[in-house]
Amino acid sequence: METKVSIMSEYNIDYEAIKEASEVIKIGGLVVFPTETVYGLGANALNEEAVKKIFEVKGRPQDNPLIIHVSDFDISEYVEEIPEIAYKLIHKFWPGPLTLILKKSNIIPYTTSAGLDTIGIRMPSNVIARELIRESKVPIAAPSANISGRPSPTDVKHCIEDLGGKVNYILGGESSDVGVESTIVDCTSENICILRPGGITIEMLKEVDKNVYYDKAILSKPKDNFRPKAPGMKYRHYAPKAPVKIICGDLQKTIAKINEMVQNYIDSNKRVGIMATDETRHYYKSGNIVSLGSRENIDDIGKNLFAALRKFDDMDVDVILSEAFEEVGFGAAIMNRLKKSAGFDIIQV
Ligand code: TXA
Ligand code: MG
Repeated sequence: METKVSIMSEYNIDYEAIKEASEVIKIGGLVVFPTETVYGLGANALNEEAVKKIFEVKGRPQDNPLIIHVSDFDISEYVEEIPEIAYKLIHKFWPGPLTLILKKSNIIPYTTSAGLDTIGIRMPSNVIARELIRESKVPIAAPSANISGRPSPTDVKHCIEDLGGKVNYILGGESSDVGVESTIVDCTSENICILRPGGITIEMLKEVDKNVYYDKAILSKPKDNFRPKAPGMKYRHYAPKAPVKIICGDLQKTIAKINEMVQNYIDSNKRVGIMATDETRHYYKSGNIVSLGSRENIDDIGKNLFAALRKFDDMDVDVILSEAFEEVGFGAAIMNRLKKSAGFDIIQV
C-alpha cells in the first residue's frame, strides 16, 4: 500500500493534508497522527471494518480494547452515563493525557471495545490530532502507532519504521510532548482507579478524588491469576530487541553494579547498552551509553524513554542495563513502562 506522508507543525498546520487525511478516516482507512502522549494509529471508531484493520496492521491481540479520541467536550453520544466525577476530571484535565473509562453507548461497536461494555475516551491536547478528529466528524479509535510489543512511537520516524506501507496516511508533527501514553482512570465505580499511570499523576488526581488508587495489577509483576482491568497491561510491551535489566537502588551502588555487569558481558563478547542520565553517564567506563536526560527534569526523561529504547535496536546491543527512577509524580509512569519493557527483570542493589 502507498502511504502518503505529510509533516507539519502544531504551530503551522497543513489544513489541506488534514482534510485529505479526514477523507481517509471517513471511507474507513487508517491514519497515523501525532498526539501529546505518543503517535496514534487511527480509524473511525464507529466503523467495525475500519477498526478491524487497526488490529490487523498492529498485530494486536483481539481482547485489547481501543481508546476513542474526541475533539468535542460533549461525549454524551458515546457513553451511557457520565458520573459527576467524570465531569470534574474532564473539566480539569481535558484536553490532555487522561483517558476515562465509562460505560459505552450502543453506537460504539464491540470491535472497538474488544467485547467490553465500557470504553476508554480522551481528548488529546495536540492541535493536529484535534483538527483531524473535528474534520473527520467521528470519534477516532487509536492505539499507539507501533507494531504490538514494540516501544510506542514518539516521533514520526518511528511510525514510518513500524507502519510505512501499511496505512493510508501519516500525519507528522513534533516529537511527542509527554512521551508516555495517557493515564487511564476507571470512572465506573465509586472511587476512581488508575489502570495505567501517565502524564496526569496520582498526586494530580488526588485533588479531584482523594481516595483515587492504583489497580493492584499495575503495582506488581503480572501473575497468571491476576487480571489487570486494562487488558493491555498484561502483555509484554515496549520491548526493544535486546532484553532490558533495571538496576535499582542507591545511585552510586547502581553505577558500580552496572560497571561490574558491563565488564562481565564484555568479557563474554556481548554488546551492552546502558540507559543512563546526564548526571551519571560519565561514570560508565565502557558500553553503548544513551542518556535519557537530566534527573533534575523528570519530564525530559519521560519524553526520551521510548526513543532511547529504539536507539538500542540500531546499536544492535545484546542486553540493555537501565538505571531506575523514583516512583513519585511522573516517575511512576516512567518506571511502569520501564518495568514492562524489562519484563520485570529488576536487580536491587
Ligand atoms: O496516550 C494514549 O492513550 C495513546 C494515544 C495514541 O492516545 N493511545 C494508547 O492506546 O496508548 P493503546 O491502545 O496503545 O493502549 C490502550 C490501553 C490498553 O492497555 C487497553 O487495554 C486499555 O487502554 N483500555 C482501553 N479500553 C479499555 C476499557 N474499556 N477498559 C479497560 N482498559 C481499557
Ligand atoms: Mg500501545
